[in-house]
Amino acid sequence: MDPQLWHDYCTSVDAADPVPLSLRQWKRLSQVERRMHIDGLQRWISQLFIETEEMKGVTDAIANTLRRNKDSPPGAKEIFALSGPNAVGKSTFMMRWGRERYLQMITGAATDERGRTVMKLDDDCEADLCPVTWTHIPARAAVKVVNQLILGCYGLPGDGDVGQLTTNAVRAARRHGTQILIFDDVHLLYTDWKGGRFVLDHIKHINTELGYTGTTLVLVGANIEDSVLVRDPQIAGRLTLKPLAPYQVHTIDERRAWQGVVRQLEERVLPHLPAGEPGMLFLELAGELWLRTQGFLGDLKTLVGEAVVAASEDGTHRIVREHLNRIELCARAEGTRRELAQPRRRSARSTRTAPDDWGSAPDGQSAVSQTPQ
Ligand SMILES: Nc1ncnc2c1ncn2[C@@H]1O[C@H](COP(=O)(O)OP(=O)(O)OP(=O)(O)O)[C@@H](O)[C@H]1O
Ligand SMILES: [Mg+2]
Repeated sequence: MDPQLWHDYCTSVDAADPVPLSLRQWKRLSQVERRMHIDGLQRWISQLFIETEEMKGVTDAIANTLRRNKDSPPGAKEIFALSGPNAVGKSTFMMRWGRERYLQMITGAATDERGRTVMKLDDDCEADLCPVTWTHIPARAAVKVVNQLILGCYGLPGDGDVGQLTTNAVRAARRHGTQILIFDDVHLLYTDWKGGRFVLDHIKHINTELGYTGTTLVLVGANIEDSVLVRDPQIAGRLTLKPLAPYQVHTIDERRAWQGVVRQLEERVLPHLPAGEPGMLFLELAGELWLRTQGFLGDLKTLVGEAVVAASEDGTHRIVREHLNRIELCARAEGTRRELAQPRRRSARSTRTAPDDWGSAPDGQSAVSQTPQ
């Protein structure tokens, strides 16, 4: 990603939580004020980030990789990779993680007249400080494109032959003080052709070259557990691979974990629903929310967010099932929901199952917990 765009993203601030209104205050709003308040709510909700225990586990695992890489001798470093199905939230999570690291690592650095952080190379020369970079791999990316993407992180041109570009990319990363290089969508690397070996070898080469300055590669990709990238012995031997998965609700523990996520979101939106009560979502609608979203956090945020807006617009100021019924989610969520609603007609090969009865877990205990972990 262009360095200025990445810097702007990292230094941007999430939309503020609007001031909560009581029922009486809502009633006193003019039509225009009401619209403006609901628009503010919508902006805030669309940027809400749901943080989960699983994400904390991933954060700890990356921290361990970084620590080991910092302490290990120069040379090829450990690589961290995050995998998971499409739309589970890999990029969202990693971008936020990258943003936090970037902000930590530029703290205290000198800035130039553009407001960008810089590092001194010698008495009369300085370079932009880019401690964390973010790159999206495009479809069928091979060696040259990977080099051009790295150079693009520093706003540098990508002309020249492959060998020269590799040297330039490695030099640029060193000159700009890069400690973490995040590659998103690595499943798009062009590895499944006869020259695919060169792409893998290139990733290893970059990892070794940048390892001399302690840089860590972080790879993010859809379902990469079985990819040639992860199975390559040289990469696999120094790789920590973590998954992000949608929430499931087959066991009582899984249901409690889901309720915990719903409760977290409920606690954020409840101040804006003055007729709502604690438990409105995580006790009364947790099963319905799972059926609608199949445990995907982005869909959960969209569904609850749209319901908050609908409940504010129609003056009920609390979320009920009818609000959810009127909201259409993405094609995956709606398609799977239809499939789950017709269990008998499911294909024999389908592995998708809906919880038969949200209220009771397989062992007969109540899954509806007042205190989800
Ligand atoms: N923790 C979260 N809290 C709120 N919204 C989220 C969260 N994670 C993801 N989303 C939303 O879900 C949607 C999909 O997320 P994202 O693009 O990060 O998925 P992905 O796993 O990178 O998918 P792909 O493999 O297709 O690139 C986005 O709209 C994002 O805003
Ligand atoms: Mg993504």
